[in-house]
Amino acid sequence: MSAGAGEHPVAFPPAALPFAPVQFTGRHVVSISDFSRNDLIHVLELAARMESSKSPARLDGKLMATLFFEPSTRTRLSFEAAMHKLGGKVIGFSDAGSTSTKKGESLADTIRMVERYADVIVMRHPRDGAARLASEISTVPVINGGDGGNQHPSQTFLDLYTIAKLFPALLSGERELTIAFAGDLRYGRTVHSLLTALCHFKVRMLLVAPRGLEMPEQYLNAAAKAGLVVQEVPTLQEVVAQADVLYMTRLQEERFPDPLEFDHIKHSYRITAAMLASAPAHLRILHPLPRVNEIAIDVDATPHAHYFAQAGNGIPVRQALLSLVIGTV
Ligand code: CP
Repeated sequence: MSAGAGEHPVAFPPAALPFAPVQFTGRHVVSISDFSRNDLIHVLELAARMESSKSPARLDGKLMATLFFEPSTRTRLSFEAAMHKLGGKVIGFSDAGSTSTKKGESLADTIRMVERYADVIVMRHPRDGAARLASEISTVPVINGGDGGNQHPSQTFLDLYTIAKLFPALLSGERELTIAFAGDLRYGRTVHSLLTALCHFKVRMLLVAPRGLEMPEQYLNAAAKAGLVVQEVPTLQEVVAQADVLYMTRLQEERFPDPLEFDHIKHSYRITAAMLASAPAHLRILHPLPRVNEIAIDVDATPHAHYFAQAGNGIPVRQALLSLVIGTV
């Protein structure tokens, strides 16, 4: 696997290295708020070793179950690819309609059974809190692959890894990074998790959201408590001129309670190549994907586009998470 344009191998200055032993074996990965700065850096450090093939970790004989009650391309496939690369095996489903959930089986009963089949469970579910419930039942680690509009912690690990590769200052702290989030900050679970994680780093946050889709208070309050400077900005054009990273998100149509409300705002923000004419050369655009129409196709050919390389970073990061929670490193 090659690094994306502008990426460097993650550099870990001594001050960024964990100063206390980190225990991961058997841990659930449900919410990014369950992880300290130490923990986050530990995962990034192992991901870097995975990417450079310097980790001896293997998962031969281990089995991962992927329970996807909601559609996914990247999260499921990159977890599966990560498990295969480590020598493990995979069972699971990507369509709950073909399982006994359809006959009325509860999530709790599903977990009570799958924990007997697999060494780790990766689950995506449309309901907020479903992963927490599964973790309270399961005797094997549960990794949250996204629960409703709540959290997506493995995406956050890969987002941090991508930012650290692009901007070593994230870990060294030698300068403050400016990171902008744009789009559906209310229902977008990736930005909830990422803002929570960024509270551990030296960053300034800019937020651009259509009216009614602003970042929920609980995340803003947590950021304020952590001392993060967070500024709400009215237009995309303003953040393009200032940011190191512009993290775009799509409107989460499936989570809108009112389809009319969605129709009303669906075209309210979109980044195009023309809008990037005034951007600093180092600006990188990230997106958890899938994109719908919030990033015009003509942006792909600019040096600012980094979302496909970002998705590629999901493999070493998920290799690291699987190895850590199963306990082979
Ligand atoms: N980033 C992300 O969660 O993508 P998928 O929905 O395709 O898994």
